[in-house]
Amino acid sequence: MTRTPGDAAPPEQSFSLDHFIGLYEAKDDPWDNATKWSDQRKYSVAMASLPRERYRRCYEPGCAVGRLSVLLAGRCDEVLAADCVDEAVAQARATTAALPNVQVERALLPAELPDGAFDLIVIGDLLYYLSADDLRVMLDGTVARLEDGGDLLVVHFRDRENPGNYDGFNVHAVIAARPGLDRVIHHEDEWFVLDVFRKNSITGHCG
Ligand SMILES: C[S@@+](CC[C@H](N)C(=O)[O-])C[C@H]1O[C@@H](n2cnc3c(N)ncnc32)[C@H](O)[C@@H]1O
Repeated sequence: MTRTPGDAAPPEQSFSLDHFIGLYEAKDDPWDNATKWSDQRKYSVAMASLPRERYRRCYEPGCAVGRLSVLLAGRCDEVLAADCVDEAVAQARATTAALPNVQVERALLPAELPDGAFDLIVIGDLLYYLSADDLRVMLDGTVARLEDGGDLLVVHFRDRENPGNYDGFNVHAVIAARPGLDRVIHHEDEWFVLDVFRKNSITGHCG
């Protein structure tokens, strides 16, 4: 399906905390992140797309059950993963229990972004749940926490079945339009779109 900028709108309100709590009450791993082949492949492509061999401090909001957190722990000195749902945080902590360099916290975004700076931020299948205002605040806060020269990897599902649905194509276009980020990798296939943006030191001080 051919998409064009502006062909879909973000949700008027961000998807609620109760919405996600309900998904975890209905099913331990609501998106089958631990078992679905498309997610295993997405995680492999994401890891292969990280430009640097090693990172110092990674932030991974919307970590869900922590499957990508485990992989990131192998490439990063520290990983701070976060999710708004207590059950997701509990599962991610269990999944990463043997990895002392992973910390998992409960945080509702964009209000509860962490302190400190990161040289890597990885956001998967999260941003299209946010309203336009929350997306702007989230991106301002994300870019502000990314060190100059740091990498922002974003990977989101592309919905080719439902024209007009706000999907990875749309959120990545919003990010690409921001000042201060240079796109260094773009991958697109029938399932997802992945971009790596590097914060440049000229205009990247947002938020
Ligand atoms: C589709 S899962 C993403 C899983 C994983 N990041 C991946 O790429 O496979 C979305 C996760 O984001 C969490 N989430 C959604 N909105 C959030 C928000 N505003 N703040 C924090 N976490 C949120 C949900 O609870 C859910 O666990």
